[in-house]
Amino acid sequence: MSAQLINGKEIAAQVRQQVATGVQSRLAQGLRAPGLAVVLVGNDPASKVYVGNKRKACEEAGIVSLSYDLPEDTSQQALEALIDELNDNPTVDGILVQLPLPAHLDADPILVKIRPDKDVDGFHPYNIGRLMQRKPALRPCTPAGIITLLDSIGTPYKGQHAVIVGASNIVGRPMSMELLLKGATTTVCHRFTRDLPRFVSEADILVAAVGKPGLIRGEWVKPGATVIDVGINRMPDGTLKGDVEFETAAKRAAFITPVPGGVGPMTIATLLQNTLYAADVLHV
Ligand code: GUN
Repeated sequence: MSAQLINGKEIAAQVRQQVATGVQSRLAQGLRAPGLAVVLVGNDPASKVYVGNKRKACEEAGIVSLSYDLPEDTSQQALEALIDELNDNPTVDGILVQLPLPAHLDADPILVKIRPDKDVDGFHPYNIGRLMQRKPALRPCTPAGIITLLDSIGTPYKGQHAVIVGASNIVGRPMSMELLLKGATTTVCHRFTRDLPRFVSEADILVAAVGKPGLIRGEWVKPGATVIDVGINRMPDGTLKGDVEFETAAKRAAFITPVPGGVGPMTIATLLQNTLYAADVLHV
């Protein structure tokens, strides 16, 4: 392997430490600790694990985590009523509704209902619009966390070709806006893209966020590229695999994120950053 590993676990730990210091400084000034309401509807096992990790990380950083575990058969009306209540609660700086919601619920009206200054996931159309217009407020956690990783290795964004594979609302689309904001020339590839290998082979910065194990072949990677793998795919043998064929890609790339221990830990670290930002800047 010739690529240098980008250690997301270590960088996330540094970010979480910075957030803990920020929380301590609030307390020293007699301000309240930031509060994050984490809402989980139903019994999806993966969501339970993610939510548990988010709550634990809050507590470690000194952020108060308010837990709302609602039954699978929760109505749209009841969930919207909870959002209203949290919007009005002055001890709540951030509101997170874990996705996906059970099939009978419509996520869109819920995400729009969350007050934009409490939208620590950055999914509200207001926050997405702010990012589009080059004045980001609360930014989606995974793309913002990836920028922290790219900054940590001194990525010279300007004029670089950034290729994002995957056009989701949570990662691909906001990622393209973050990289555009940094001065990269960006291309977003998706299921209708013709000749994916050609685009990948032209990427100075490659972000793979599709959820298909090993979709990106190592031999497509441009020598010297930076490869960011957002995929977390559970294999039949229980191991986790990214969207990029790691061993072969690592022979060509200059920098690469591992799975696990790359992008994953950055999502939660950025959520904590967003919650502290909401408390410090948006709720003074
Ligand atoms: N489901 C998958 N990723 C996310 C995320 O970043 N936030 C929330 N709320 N749900 C998710």
